[in-house]
Amino acid sequence: MRTGIWLIGARGSVAVTSIVGALALRAGLADPTGCVTELPALRGPALPGFTDLVFGGHDVAVTPLVKKADALASAGVVPGRLGTALHAELAGIESQVRPLPALATQAETAAAITADLVAFRQRHHLDRVVVVNVSTTEPAPPPHPAHLSLAALTAALGGETPVLPPSAVAAYAALHAGCAYVDFTPSVGARLPALDELARQNRAPYAGHDSKTGETLVKAVLAPMFALRNLQVRSWSGSNLLGGGDGANLAEPAANAAKAASKQRVLAEILGYQPQGHTRIEYVDDIGDFKTAWDLITFAGFLGTGMRMEFTWHGCDSALAAPLVLDLARLTAAAHQAGRSGPLPELAFFFKDPIGDGPHALGDQWHVLVDFVADLHRQAADGAAD
Ligand SMILES: NC(=O)c1ccc[n+]([C@@H]2O[C@H](COP(=O)([O-])OP(=O)(O)OC[C@H]3O[C@@H](n4cnc5c(N)ncnc54)[C@H](O)[C@@H]3O)[C@@H](O)[C@H]2O)c1
Repeated sequence: MRTGIWLIGARGSVAVTSIVGALALRAGLADPTGCVTELPALRGPALPGFTDLVFGGHDVAVTPLVKKADALASAGVVPGRLGTALHAELAGIESQVRPLPALATQAETAAAITADLVAFRQRHHLDRVVVVNVSTTEPAPPPHPAHLSLAALTAALGGETPVLPPSAVAAYAALHAGCAYVDFTPSVGARLPALDELARQNRAPYAGHDSKTGETLVKAVLAPMFALRNLQVRSWSGSNLLGGGDGANLAEPAANAAKAASKQRVLAEILGYQPQGHTRIEYVDDIGDFKTAWDLITFAGFLGTGMRMEFTWHGCDSALAAPLVLDLARLTAAAHQAGRSGPLPELAFFFKDPIGDGPHALGDQWHVLVDFVADLHRQAADGAAD
């Protein structure tokens, strides 16, 4: 299945690491370490192969992909030898990355984004296109009546006043083009009733939000342990230090609030109560893409005896995120091919703040994912046999 991956924020760290990674896998220059879809429990005929993936995207920045890949190599995010080996292929993808359209009304901007997506699909003879939002995290938008129905939204988009944040304009355009949409960030994306209506109407699936790659991933494993042993978590406080473009943006209070809320929600969902404590995010320019998270958990055991646990996580954010971008694109394309539309709550395993009412503990989410993918493979095998 020839599958397009259209990256919103295509010149950013996560996007370029994903492109370099896919090219390296295709050329046999790297192993799929970190790609969940390459585990024996998930691998199979429904998923597009790495050789079937074609990249394109939008960005507001103009840094050439080769230059960004060199910067990622200098920072130790990707091996330097890969950047050099893949320069020609990266330069070839350059022409597929377009400036983000910005026209007089949001209806015109969305139509221009849709036109870019349709042209990309036709130019490369793609069976499916998955639009993945890996752009800068936005502040949560104020509620607006136009968010509640597709008819109201369609009317409002033609006006002079913007009613959607950029991530939702991109989601609207993607769903309008009949593409699947994945939100890798905490931004609102497709998470509005009007866009859900559009997804179902155009038979396109969507997934999100905000991939869990570090502190929240550890929380989704540790919190179930406290719950299953009937230990009372009294407080859980985390401090995240990060640099890079994401870190710089998260220094903005509104974007920081959107991310911190997304990171803390998992505890209440798993424990059934919200322990005391906050997640803090601080920008430290010098550490670039290498994030440090320190968490302190205080908890009570039998007879109220107080205890504590601490952990430190040192992760390279883009190296953790990029394989998941490839996983999500492959899985969402396969779901679309199998006829799924609307939200994909079965992909909760990947997200901090997943769509739907599924489990929040990582182990439970894994079982849901395995069953979901097994179904996709069964359908693909049945289709091939017909
Ligand atoms: N790295 C991780 O582990 C991780 C995990 C979960 C979520 N995320 C999210 O992924 C996103 C990308 O992270 P990053 O480290 O690559 O950040 P980055 O700053 O390196 O890249 C973001 C890119 O988005 C572009 N951009 C900004 N607004 C845009 C718009 N409206 N349309 C198109 N492009 C736009 C920027 O120019 C930039 O190139 C962030 O929102 C981050 O919170 C990252």
